[in-house]
Amino acid sequence: MNILIIGGGGREHVIAKRVAQNPNVSKIYALPGNGGISQIAECVKISAEDIDNITSFAKTHDIDFAVVAPDDPLALGAVDRLEAEGIKCFGPSKNAAVIEGSKVFAKELMAKYNIPTAKYEVFTDIDKALSYAALSDCPIVIKADGLAKGKGVTVAENFQQAREAIMSCMKDKAFGHSGERILIEECLTGKEVTVLAFTDGDTIIPMVSSMDHKRAYDGNKGPNTGGMGVIAPNPYYTPEIAEQCMRTIFLPTMKAMNNEGRKFKGCLYFGLMLTDKGSKVIEYNCRFGDPEAEAVLPLMESDLLDVMMAVRDERLSDVPVRFKEGASCCVVCASSGYPASYLTGYEIDFGNAEGIEGVEVFHAGTKKEDGKYYTSGGRVLAVNAVSGDLESAREKAYKAVDQVNFEGMRYRTDIGTL
Ligand code: AMP
Ligand code: GLY
Repeated sequence: MNILIIGGGGREHVIAKRVAQNPNVSKIYALPGNGGISQIAECVKISAEDIDNITSFAKTHDIDFAVVAPDDPLALGAVDRLEAEGIKCFGPSKNAAVIEGSKVFAKELMAKYNIPTAKYEVFTDIDKALSYAALSDCPIVIKADGLAKGKGVTVAENFQQAREAIMSCMKDKAFGHSGERILIEECLTGKEVTVLAFTDGDTIIPMVSSMDHKRAYDGNKGPNTGGMGVIAPNPYYTPEIAEQCMRTIFLPTMKAMNNEGRKFKGCLYFGLMLTDKGSKVIEYNCRFGDPEAEAVLPLMESDLLDVMMAVRDERLSDVPVRFKEGASCCVVCASSGYPASYLTGYEIDFGNAEGIEGVEVFHAGTKKEDGKYYTSGGRVLAVNAVSGDLESAREKAYKAVDQVNFEGMRYRTDIGTL
């Protein structure tokens, strides 16, 4: 089988590595891929958002199955276009990807189907948003409606911060059209949990839970990032909570999307807050999280490609989806300056990181030139260790990080210390 993977980060590297383990796979292409992915796939310089060229590439390369991993191509309808050309895909159609692409859509869905979430109001008028914020008790949460590369959310501690966030979205258009409509939400408190789930619209199977570490610096300080590290499973997500989430959130969401004529097939990402009034949805994403995928998929025992094909063919209930006992700890090595501006092009020394049992080094922002690897992004590597328990996974992950080096390398030292 020839497989096409759209995307080029750590998430796509772990997907490519697992797909490569399937004995029926003969060739993998990645658009655009990265340095690490090029070890197992042919990487072609077509951007993940260039749907026309992705479609022509797929048509001329005899692709049997495509995995559309990032949010942008999903929101742009990559799956619809490829499927229309007869290419089977893992990932939701455009009309289902809206669950991530529009936060207003997601909130209205939850309101209509009684899925627990934070209280909210929607605004398209700056003055109305400002007066609502002025009358609200802080903290409050300001969110751009559309995709904003993970930067569209501000937890405002006071009115001044709320005002800045509203002006930046609606007046300065920091996120373009994505911020023309905003949400102002009640601020929830509690432990955050990510649950990724495979669903084909009829069956929904949660993967091992995880905990992202979104802030840039130790002690959950500094600006939000795409994610600086992950542990899986999430120690706060008990079997009782899992059962409650299945009943009140996961199944109702799948059914709600069906009812709306937006059957969701792919990986549905539930960002949850475990509040003292039960678990509530903070956000949905229409794809694997990054770096959550780099911690969760290494714990998967069943064949990833078989499961993804079953999702596409709507026979998920027929395949095993099993996870190992034990834990993952994934530490992101970032470029100095990330998430603001940073320099790239530094050579990466991996030492003997992957010589440590259970360790895999996934490439996020790297490129390969003349047999050497160089930094090419803000998040450079996701170093994951799988071990019997969280503590030993953590020890191994940091031992591996000690082996790795590049100019300006920065990472959090407290992933998984809770
Ligand atoms: P998102 O981009 O939707 O993942 O939001 C980024 C982060 O903002 C989340 O991981 C939460 O930590 C925080 N957040 C979003 N919405 C809320 C909320 N209603 N209450 C508290 N924190 C929130
Ligand atoms: N790590 C958060 C996300 O993928 O959205």
